[in-house]
Amino acid sequence: MARHSFIAGTGAYLPECIVTNDELARSVDTNDAWIHDRTGIRQRHIAGPRETCAHMGAAAARAALCQAGAEPGEVDAVILATSTPDQAFPATALRVQAELGIANGFGFDLAAACSGFIYGLSVADGMIRTGQVRSALVIGSEVYSRIMDWHDRTTCVLFGDGAGAVFLRATEEPDRGVLSTHLHAQGGLGDILYVDGAVGRHDRPGTLVMNGREVFRHAVTRLVETVEEALAANRLTHDAVDWLVPHQANRRIIDAVARKLGMNAERVVVTVDRHANTSAASIPLALAEAVGDGRIRRGDLVLMEALGGGLTWGSALARF
Ligand code: UT7
Repeated sequence: MARHSFIAGTGAYLPECIVTNDELARSVDTNDAWIHDRTGIRQRHIAGPRETCAHMGAAAARAALCQAGAEPGEVDAVILATSTPDQAFPATALRVQAELGIANGFGFDLAAACSGFIYGLSVADGMIRTGQVRSALVIGSEVYSRIMDWHDRTTCVLFGDGAGAVFLRATEEPDRGVLSTHLHAQGGLGDILYVDGAVGRHDRPGTLVMNGREVFRHAVTRLVETVEEALAANRLTHDAVDWLVPHQANRRIIDAVARKLGMNAERVVVTVDRHANTSAASIPLALAEAVGDGRIRRGDLVLMEALGGGLTWGSALARF
């Protein structure tokens, strides 16, 4: 079998501060029943001043290396997916590289909104397949609390902060590893979910704007398509999948995709109730939780899918 990557370790970091729906309802016109019924969200973690994108990403990456039994010196590349970097540059990936004491290789940030982790996994797996690197950290780290309009009840109840990471190693073992990734984007839909400013612009750092109903409509269709595409490319059927690890934006989207796949709820990893939508961090956070508590085991086939601003969307299939 040709060289490809496998997920050797997973890691997570969640900010200490938890904000419940009831707490949010004290400052904005909403309530726990609406938020939970429409999204499945009960609470979210919100970063404190010291919990920067780099700090959280480094903590998640350190945990992933530890689970893999790897040293920082083994890391050839750091790819960090985020829409909320601490600075325009240096890349947050390089702040993480420095914090972990990684002396070699290279790193960069990747912007694909909520699909960022799938995009990062695809790039890293590709680099491992071509022999450019032998290992890579792929991190999703987000502080969406800093791009929220805290007066807009249609968005501020939906998002949370956090970071997740995986450490990829090269392997030629045929029975494990990333089997495929599929990426998509449609720039023409850029205006249904965007940030109306930019990092580094003190006059207008920007806040998130979303036409939720439109995004929802595209999400179910596109996610089902890309999941079907992943299975077809590997000549697999729905019942071969042990775990669905979806992007955690809305419980109703997760359930709709699982239903179309014929997967029962016990085989779907759900964190949206506790984490809310952490964008690029949501899939690696969910992976780390399910690996950590023993649900995902060696040999399991895991299907990941995400859709986010851009629009961007994609899927990845990996054997653990
Ligand atoms: O991760 C990136 C991808 N993002 C997504 O996938 C998000 C996709 N979209 C969604 O998840 C859903 O569209 C939302 C959760 C954002 C909204 O759910 P919805 O069922 O589409 O609700 P809606 O936007 O149609 O709003 C229904 C009503 C409106 O009132 P009227 O116009 O019917 O009187 C809203 O003003 O709910 C009202 N509303 C709220 N009420 C209480 C909107 N936000 C709130 C709120 N609390 N926080």
